[in-house]
Amino acid sequence: MDADRLIGRADGGLPWATIERDRRHFRSYCAGKALLFGRRTFEEMGRSWFAATGARPIALTRDANWQPPIAGTPVVGDLRSALAVAGSWGEAELVVCGGSSTYQLALPLADRLVLTLIDAGDGRPGGGGLYFPEWDADDFVQTRRDAFPANADDPPLTILWLERKNHSELRPARAE
Ligand SMILES: NC(=O)c1ccc[n+]([C@@H]2O[C@H](COP(=O)([O-])OP(=O)(O)OC[C@H]3O[C@@H](n4cnc5c(N)ncnc54)[C@H](OP(=O)(O)O)[C@@H]3O)[C@@H](O)[C@H]2O)c1
Repeated sequence: MDADRLIGRADGGLPWATIERDRRHFRSYCAGKALLFGRRTFEEMGRSWFAATGARPIALTRDANWQPPIAGTPVVGDLRSALAVAGSWGEAELVVCGGSSTYQLALPLADRLVLTLIDAGDGRPGGGGLYFPEWDADDFVQTRRDAFPANADDPPLTILWLERKNHSELRPARAE
């Protein structure tokens, strides 16, 4: 996200060209894990990414008739169901991968925020944007901060790891 918490274009896609370091970080953090995507973001992801990372997606939608583009993907209508799927896979963590409305739904229950903050320069989209929700800094403690200067591929960016002080009651393993 940028300094205003911008994460997406209203018409879909990221507001900026691929940021290599963030792409590698996202891939490394998510590899092999259970991931929750809002339906719009899931439709932007390529099937090959999941095959290459071993990550297992779960898609969130209100449309019970929606057919996921990757056959066999569990489709859920709420967070508890997503946690139940992740729990049934033996996962202790469900990584919420956006987009904006899905982050909004999950933020109150999130125990960890892993945030890439970028200096987007003039990479702002026209026609409105989609934003990461505001979080209360008092609810979290920073456990790690990695800062990277600009290079030939990327703008300057910082990856922040925040842990909720009082963890949520909901966990994949505890979901019913
Ligand atoms: N920069 C980043 O880190 C980042 C990360 C991820 C995504 N993005 C960007 O974010 C944008 C997409 O965000 P978005 O908010 O438009 O879409 P989204 O969160 O990916 O998906 C929205 C869809 O999820 C379903 N949904 C959302 N809340 C729900 C709820 N409470 N219960 C049941 N289903 C629910 C609905 O699907 P139905 O309409 O099918 O009912 C809704 O239309 C894209 O531009 C994407 O590129 C950016």
